Amino acid sequence: MENTGIGWVYNNRARDGGCARVPVSDFSEDQVGRVRDFHRAFAEYEPTPLHRLDSLAGELGVKSIWVKDESKRFGLNAFKVLGGSYAIGKYLAARMGIDLGGISFDTLKGMTAKENKQRLLFVTATDGNHGRGIAWAARQLGQDAVVFLPKGSAEARVRNIEREGARAFVLDMNYDDAVRHAKDYAEKNDGIFVQDTAWEGYTEIPGWIMQGYSTIAHELTEQLEAQGADKPTHVFLQAGVGSFAASIQAYFAYRYGSDRPVTAVVEPDRAACMFKSASIGDGRAHMVAGDLDTIMAGLACGEPNTVAWGILRDYSDMFFSCPDYVAARGTRILANPLGDDPRIVSGESGSVGVGLLSLLLEREECREAVRLLGLGSDSRVAFISTEGDTDPVGYRKIVWDGLCPTPDKL
Ligand SMILES: Cc1ncc(COP(=O)(O)O)c(C=O)c1O
Repeated sequence: MENTGIGWVYNNRARDGGCARVPVSDFSEDQVGRVRDFHRAFAEYEPTPLHRLDSLAGELGVKSIWVKDESKRFGLNAFKVLGGSYAIGKYLAARMGIDLGGISFDTLKGMTAKENKQRLLFVTATDGNHGRGIAWAARQLGQDAVVFLPKGSAEARVRNIEREGARAFVLDMNYDDAVRHAKDYAEKNDGIFVQDTAWEGYTEIPGWIMQGYSTIAHELTEQLEAQGADKPTHVFLQAGVGSFAASIQAYFAYRYGSDRPVTAVVEPDRAACMFKSASIGDGRAHMVAGDLDTIMAGLACGEPNTVAWGILRDYSDMFFSCPDYVAARGTRILANPLGDDPRIVSGESGSVGVGLLSLLLEREECREAVRLLGLGSDSRVAFISTEGDTDPVGYRKIVWDGLCPTPDKL
């Protein structure tokens, strides 16, 4: 697919019957049900909408297309709060020596206030959405948060974090260095470092964050069943550090075993660390360095979550690296629905999968990838639009002004 600028690697390992895989029991039905119960206890909780886009499916030549709209999550315009709230809940419960099961956030709030004379300080780095989720959860519990953002962060994302009562600082460094900075700050200021990515020696909190995201997959399967629809044949999952994609992948792997949907992991070409790791193919996670300059701010991460990488390596079928125009196309497609399809406001990091599917099914050069994925007229394809217009100025530049047009001649 050289002409499109889209890169892909097929992962033989995912369907290799003789291959040893990392376990996914942290995403068992029982565990994921407990996470969902925790989220259900919030006053703001309701399942995000799952939309069926029949006209788009007809246009692209597949059986059905489903888009789950995470812009409606807790009024925060993105899915990330699911991870941050669950991790903070788990942390506080562990600190007080209690089991989170069956305890609501309100009960936890009361207990935390009683146990801790001083306010606790939660510290994190973010491209915007995770930090907003942490700030929101800290505020709900009457605690403090400090959030660091990488250079170039959109004004609106910074303001939204501050609006939740947290202190936010934009640093002159990329996301991965901002993570190191936040860790250092937490250590020096007696803070609790709550990061959405894992590495050797730092896995417990990111593990809870990943489990927190599984509420999405739990809702999705329930919603499909309620509509009498079969499980998806294909799922496209976008990745930054890979925590989100791995969480959804792990739940499907646990629930459906070898009968799980074919999964494609999608990244921006400027920050394609999973794609790079799959291309090198030695089983290890590899980094991408530099400015990670992409409109897909939520996916602008160069260092994979090592736990997430293990899951994606062992269960995902294909890895894609996409230029910015692919995400811009996805945003425009969802903003300009065909026929009776609903309009979905999907930011750059939420829409790249839809943009990719549209190109895969349109372009001659993509035939081999389509064949390997087994995409065709019987395919039922699911997407999770992980954010709305979290950068409204950038969103309008795409939808109104045609920023990052699809090249005429690829
Ligand atoms: C909107 C959005 N989608 C997807 C992701 C990717 O999540 P992860 O970094 O866990 O891969 C992010 C990460 O911040 C995001 O903000």
